[in-house]
Amino acid sequence: MAAGLGTRLRSATVKVLHPVAGRPMIHYPVRSAIELGADPIVAVLGHQREAVEAYLNAAFPEAPVRVALQAEQLGTAHAVLCAREALADFDGDVFILSGDVPTLPTALIERLDAACGDAAVGVVGMRLADPAAYGRLVRDDEGQLARIVEFRDCAPAEKAIDEVNAGIYRVDARFLFETLAGLGRDNAQGEYYLTDIVGAARAAGKAVRTLVLEGEEAALAGGVNDRVDLAAAEARMQTALRRTLMRDGVTLIDPASVFVDDGVEVGPDTVIEPGVRLAGGTRVGRGCHLEQGVVLRDTVVGDEVVVHAYSHADRAIIDDDCSVGPFARLREGTVLRAGVKVGNFVETKKTEMEEGAKASHLSYLGDARVGAGANVGAGTITCNYDGRAKHRTDIGAGAFIGSDTQLVAPVSVGDGAYVGAGSTITEDVPAGGLALSRTRQRNIPGWVERKARARAENEGKD
Ligand code: UD1
Ligand code: CA
Repeated sequence: MAAGLGTRLRSATVKVLHPVAGRPMIHYPVRSAIELGADPIVAVLGHQREAVEAYLNAAFPEAPVRVALQAEQLGTAHAVLCAREALADFDGDVFILSGDVPTLPTALIERLDAACGDAAVGVVGMRLADPAAYGRLVRDDEGQLARIVEFRDCAPAEKAIDEVNAGIYRVDARFLFETLAGLGRDNAQGEYYLTDIVGAARAAGKAVRTLVLEGEEAALAGGVNDRVDLAAAEARMQTALRRTLMRDGVTLIDPASVFVDDGVEVGPDTVIEPGVRLAGGTRVGRGCHLEQGVVLRDTVVGDEVVVHAYSHADRAIIDDDCSVGPFARLREGTVLRAGVKVGNFVETKKTEMEEGAKASHLSYLGDARVGAGANVGAGTITCNYDGRAKHRTDIGAGAFIGSDTQLVAPVSVGDGAYVGAGSTITEDVPAGGLALSRTRQRNIPGWVERKARARAENEGKD
């Protein structure tokens, strides 16, 4: 179920596309369904349906996902009823997951399945110290689940119940669709409530089972309705992701300050200092050191790499034994081959630095190749943009670019060539040559004293 707008988020973006650990919330229940081997998987979509469908297609191109449209959101029972046609050829148990319950481990859905036996309806419950506005699980004298009452429809005594509905169900398909069609909407919200299938099952003499989660497990089944819930879901996800990293051999000096997206991989013996963020498809190898404040997005890092404090990389590749930063910025298409050193205040974009090349201080390298072992001096700039188009700079292996050089692209510096400091290079430099483009220095002896004397004489005249 993912058709609702999520009014309580007060957002222009539909709820299920809000990210948790870097992925839209809808990712997680669909991934669980895939992990459970569900076939088909039906996504009930409504608000911003095109955007949600496009995401699902991109994220799960191989999965048997069908979309059912719920044009008007008349409630959760109506949402499931909209999947009827997509499930017309299906007989068996239907697992119903909520698009806004992103942190529920797939294993808990398997446990629901095991707990249900051959019951017609199974429900995941949570026992919570603060049952908040969740639907309450009302039990009969024998302790069997009798019905679920939405918070807004609760009698005062029902509000005191601490067992609540997580919004995750297993229901026999035939019973489900026969029953949903007959439900009314005589309730506080005037909606068709999926939760009413429990009372309906009991009335029909069908068995109903629950899997009630407690403690930390109960928290994992928490839903997201507003941004407070969203932050809580993010926190739960981060706790789980950090634990996984640490158990896999990664040192997090201050775990609570490290943020990783779902899917990020880090090798053993890598040390991560406080305030680091690893986003998107980032992968970091073993034995690396990520200093404080490092941000890596969709970046692949080899082994034994040191990224010094406050460096930022986006869609970059950093091979083994490199040293980056502090305060370096590696932009999309940066490739640093083994042993490269990129120092402070160096920005790179669409630039490959081959083995052992160095740019230690204050440079911009864009649309460039820096050959193996070349040294790019402080303040070097590739002037890659002429106001209309981008051009390439090619620096050969072992070349030496003097400090404060501007390389006006397109231009190349041959293997082993030298460029004198302060040069503006507009023509290719041959391999093994020296290029100097600055004007020759002129010294004027005694200039300061003469100037002072002339000034004094002028003042005497006034
Ligand atoms: C629902 C349950 C409540 C439970 C809570 C757990 C009902 C009536 N109530 O309440 O008992 O404690 O979840 O998180 O089911 N949706 C649709 N179409 C609709 C309405 C909702 O697709 O017409 C989708 C929403 O997009 C969302 C999910 O169903 O992903 C749950 O809807 P929401 O409105 O958040 O239900 P709750 O009020 O949280
Ligand atoms: Ca909800």
